[in-house]
Amino acid sequence: MKRILTGIKPTGTPHIGNYFGAIKQAIELSKNEDYEALYFIADYHALNTVKNPELFKKYTHEIAATWLACGLDPGKVMFYKQSDIPEVFELNWILNNITPKGVLNRAHAYKACVEDNKNKNLDPDSGVNMGLYCYPVLMAADILLMQSNLVPVGLDQKQHLEITKEIARYFNNTFGNFFVSPEEYIPESVGTIIGLDGRKMSKSYGNTITLFGDEKMLRSQINKIVTNSQTPEEPKDTDCAIFKIFSLFANSKQIEEMKEKFSKGIGWGEVKKQTFEVANSLLAPMREVYNYYISHPEEIDKILENGAKKARQIAAQTIGEVRKLIGKE
Ligand code: ADP
Ligand code: TRP
Repeated sequence: MKRILTGIKPTGTPHIGNYFGAIKQAIELSKNEDYEALYFIADYHALNTVKNPELFKKYTHEIAATWLACGLDPGKVMFYKQSDIPEVFELNWILNNITPKGVLNRAHAYKACVEDNKNKNLDPDSGVNMGLYCYPVLMAADILLMQSNLVPVGLDQKQHLEITKEIARYFNNTFGNFFVSPEEYIPESVGTIIGLDGRKMSKSYGNTITLFGDEKMLRSQINKIVTNSQTPEEPKDTDCAIFKIFSLFANSKQIEEMKEKFSKGIGWGEVKKQTFEVANSLLAPMREVYNYYISHPEEIDKILENGAKKARQIAAQTIGEVRKLIGKE
């Protein structure tokens, strides 16, 4: 059976941009009976940005609880933590030795750091650690170890998939044809989810709506969506953050009705109130599951350990073959 695999970096509390932009589609895909699905928490990738042990643990649990609350079925999907698969790190080292440094010099995240340093007249490598530099190799190890066929990712990860394919080719050319060449799957219909200020919703802009905050937090974040000074009576343009956010949660009838109200005139306060209502009715049942897991972290740990046990069977097989191919055994 073909394998589908994706990694989720636990670098912050999930927001609705993550849900509508990535989680929802990935969970739909995981239900496809034609694939064996492996979804994992890329915690050692996150170590590059999260250097606080309390936060590291908190984000890992939050991400796991989020995916479970959004419908990931651990009976169907192998759901595990990257750091629980030691074979990933063995393969990572082996792949380091066949990856030309030049390939990593061209990786976007590293290049952006170097450019930024140059613009600030700093040493080009200032603040660049080896975790950032070698990030694409670890990602290749995640993917190749599981002989993945399909990898759902956001557009920003396309280059990493290209590097993974390149690394697979180098290995196959050096040691014999072994690794499956993975295909990226970038859902096209997913647009950018807009944040409170009209820019892309992102934790780095501080303009997010927390996916599973409590009702009070949801209401207060929705109230912060930037509008203009038009009076309630004035007809309004639907090309604005609040209408876009409302539409994420509303059904087509509700969207039509809201359009009508925009053209006739409606107060921003009322739009925000209705946005809260539709958002809360979608999120409330999922929030309940989320809160359950957050208050039972031992259940999350059990699910992830179980997932790791299954995934390690695949990992052991691959690494066994790799060891033979390189001449270790
Ligand atoms: P952030 O931008 O808040 O740091 P991440 O980079 O951790 O978010 O994103 C995790 C996943 O969620 C990625 O697959 C990314 O494509 C998706 N995602 C994040 N923000 C958005 C957004 N505003 N619109 C669509 N997808 C998003
Ligand atoms: N780099 C990915 C991100 O930032 C996360 C990730 C790590 C990943 N390993 C992966 C995604 C393997 C797909 C496959 O979102």
